[in-house]
Amino acid sequence: MLRIAPVVDELGERFQAAGEEIALVGGPVRDALMGRRRADLDFATSALPEVTERLISGWASAVWDVGRDFGTIGARVGDLDLQITTYRSEAYDANSRKPAVDFGDSLTGDLARRDFTVNAMALALPSREFVDPYGGLEDLASRMLRTPLTPEQSFGDDPLRMLRAARFAAQLDFDADPAVVEAMARMADRIEIVSAERVRDELVKLVLAPQPRRGLRLLVDTGLAEQVIPELPALRLERDEHHRHKDVYEHSLTVLDRAIELESRLPSGGPDLVVRLAALLHDIGKPRTRRFLPDGSVTFYHHDMVGAAMARKRLRALRFSNDQVEAVTRLVELHLRFHGYGSGEWTDAAVRRYVRDAGAELERLHVLTRADCTTRNRRKAELLSRTYDHLEERIARLSEQEELAALRPDLSGTQIMEILGIGPGPLVGEAYRHLLELRTEHGPLGEARAQRELLSWWQSRQVP
Ligand code: CTP
Repeated sequence: MLRIAPVVDELGERFQAAGEEIALVGGPVRDALMGRRRADLDFATSALPEVTERLISGWASAVWDVGRDFGTIGARVGDLDLQITTYRSEAYDANSRKPAVDFGDSLTGDLARRDFTVNAMALALPSREFVDPYGGLEDLASRMLRTPLTPEQSFGDDPLRMLRAARFAAQLDFDADPAVVEAMARMADRIEIVSAERVRDELVKLVLAPQPRRGLRLLVDTGLAEQVIPELPALRLERDEHHRHKDVYEHSLTVLDRAIELESRLPSGGPDLVVRLAALLHDIGKPRTRRFLPDGSVTFYHHDMVGAAMARKRLRALRFSNDQVEAVTRLVELHLRFHGYGSGEWTDAAVRRYVRDAGAELERLHVLTRADCTTRNRRKAELLSRTYDHLEERIARLSEQEELAALRPDLSGTQIMEILGIGPGPLVGEAYRHLLELRTEHGPLGEARAQRELLSWWQSRQVP
């Protein structure tokens, strides 16, 4: 707070001198009280957007239009980003995906229409008077999410707030008030009017939070998950009467927790959205592929492939970027591959294929595969972990020898065309893939042997 004090004081004085009210509101007040630092500050003001612009131009280093129709002007002052929004009395038009805005006339009115009491506290400026009409401070102390008006009003204004409740549970370690939980369960289907992009952005914040499990449980328990990511509640399979297989839902949450613990192994050090999504979704193909055998045992053949297709479909529907969709899909598809490694029986070719198929996701695949081992049997867990160490060592050794990561055939496209006497076209690609396959299978061939292999492949192609 002391760090930002000069800026907020100056801003308050400018507005006061012009006969307008302004207050620091929402997230920054909540975070300051929780001792969390942030570089963006939100303000609510009686001034209309054009007045705000006039009052801060010349003082702020930059001023821009965030959403004039919604009353929001952005500004940069020193290293801080400010968003200044005209008092709102916001109502959600049930037929529209965009909130319809009526400007309001008081700070208390503005705070009343906010999502939760912990986000409905303000610091009036320049007096620095703490304004907390809905008991936000008390709720913050007891880490409780309650709405300023009724939960129905808050969620009716913007159904996305139901997801925000789960996000705050995951991010800030809050519990949702029973009335909030009940309204979430009752109003879950209203999330339908919210755009996929807004839903995605909240899910991303939730998944990247310190305790995603808490938020995800709340989504599943209230039925909201059914609306936004139905593959997750579907994991709650009934156990067979012999309890022979683990609860896939609980297992998936545990794998997510373990992946978070292992994230420090990634080059970025985490938090990593792709590996977390892959951990959460790696088994979503199980419900569809479950078969009971006559002896009472259960199988999930091809749940990796089926799950990969399901993950791709869901993440696309949620408008994740192509790169994110493909990365998660690849990981889900490959999460079982290591189990064919046994106690180290893979040939070098199999190890090369593992590296090639994982491509840029190799480090994440290491994390996911290790996280997926959730057995309570310590000896078994240690053995699996050692076996994976062994595989990683082999990968390191092989890639040192062969620069596996940049696996290319022994001849370039131009060389292939020269040797075969052909011009550019699909045949060059076919030849290239053939040589790459040989390179993967046998390691580096050298140019002379690659040339012989190419010619013999070419000949066999010519023979009908
Ligand atoms: N808000 C709201 N309803 C929403 C979104 C936001 O009432 N659907 C209000 C809350 O008062 C919130 C403030 O607008 O504190 C700013 O919103 P946002 O920046 O999305 O959230 P923060 O609470 O600031 O949290 P964070 O920055 O961590 O996302």
